[in-house]
Amino acid sequence: MRISIIGAGHVGLVTGACFADLGNTVLCVDNDLRKIRKLKRNIVPIYEPGLEELIKKNTKKKRLYFSSSIKEAVGKTEVIFIAVGTPALQNGEPDLTGIENVATQIAKNLKNYRLIVEKSTVPVETGEWVKRTIERNNHFKIDFDVASNPEFLREGSAIYDFMHPDRIVIGVESERAKNILLKLYQPIKAPILITDIKSAELIKHASNSFLATKISFINAIAQICEKTGANILKVAEGIGLDKRIGKDFLNAGVGYGGACLPKDLDAFISIADKLGYNFELLKVVKKINEEQKKSIVKKISDSLWIIKGKTIGVLGLTFKPNTDDIRNSVSLEIIAELKKESVSIKAYDPWGMPNAKKIFKDIKLCLNPYEVARNSDCLLFMTEWDEFKNLDFSKIKRIMKQPLIIDGRNMLEPEKLISLGFRYIGVGR
Ligand code: UDX
Repeated sequence: MRISIIGAGHVGLVTGACFADLGNTVLCVDNDLRKIRKLKRNIVPIYEPGLEELIKKNTKKKRLYFSSSIKEAVGKTEVIFIAVGTPALQNGEPDLTGIENVATQIAKNLKNYRLIVEKSTVPVETGEWVKRTIERNNHFKIDFDVASNPEFLREGSAIYDFMHPDRIVIGVESERAKNILLKLYQPIKAPILITDIKSAELIKHASNSFLATKISFINAIAQICEKTGANILKVAEGIGLDKRIGKDFLNAGVGYGGACLPKDLDAFISIADKLGYNFELLKVVKKINEEQKKSIVKKISDSLWIIKGKTIGVLGLTFKPNTDDIRNSVSLEIIAELKKESVSIKAYDPWGMPNAKKIFKDIKLCLNPYEVARNSDCLLFMTEWDEFKNLDFSKIKRIMKQPLIIDGRNMLEPEKLISLGFRYIGVGR
């Protein structure tokens, strides 16, 4: 099939590259001309394992193209995915200006039937608005359909997630739209749920909110573990073995971050408010997440006694491993909090350094974990990179000013560290 993806961000690029790899001809469109110029030279603006290779392979096979023209997309392709960003406004609501602009431009260029598919995470009823916007600007009354096909991929394993999803959700209003999307997804083996557009939109919000709820729940249990001396790892294992609960997303830690969960939760809370439902459960999920971040800062100040003037080494800046993404990373928030206390901060991340350099002028960015540890009063583990699990901790003990480790991800072995002479503080253990 010939398809286009409007919006060459994380979701757009991965979707485009994967659909091309499945044998379709794909045009990725973005209004950022510099980004498009780079992509045409196979320079990929984000890091996602395997993405650069996939883009190179499929541009070479002449299945993947880049453009800045929506007109070209509407003219040449029968299915148009909208994957533009929906950044949060001050009040938490998503800014849908980008979606409206794209819908308007699609409508103005319609000459033949086109299927327009929402891929961005959007509030319920956006499909309805996209349809109305297209109808309003569709001066020649060309036939079209709107569909919702939310994406559930995770950064860091996005290509795997796209090719091996737990499910594919297709929200449609017509048989024609349904059949086009079924054909497009035919090579992927996964349960397909066909539904109406509004339900599809809600599935995405409900899924991300549920995942955030799981994380806040386990973080709340971790607080109780700390007060009682129980071990959160065993508690999580014990509850996760119940198939109805499941073992995934029960890692207690510094709280959730990233470009999706915090923003999507805010969006869902404000959408619910607007619809007249006070989603108190999700408000508390968010509150617990904020408290979890504060509790990490408190652990640092409690264990150092006087925090002012101390040096804190931070290992991990990205919001999770296997990505270079530092947007809404809890590590950055904690660094900002620590800076208020007049401490010196040194930091290192395997992949996050180029992005960190753009925003940090007043912390020392180091070349490796040992440079971070040298003369630090506390070593704070914020992202569970594999590289950090196998460090030479005897060496670290020798070069730190105080042998204090705060493990925000429960990724290290406390017994081993304690036997080396460290003071070890984890989360809920
Ligand atoms: C998320 C959803 O998982 C994905 O389905 C959706 O399409 C986009 O949003 P992503 O933001 O890439 O994906 O990251 P995810 O793996 O969900 O992690 C989000 C945050 O939760 C990270 O900060 C992570 O460290 C944290 N997390 C995750 C925990 O603290 N504990 C866990 O058990 C799992």
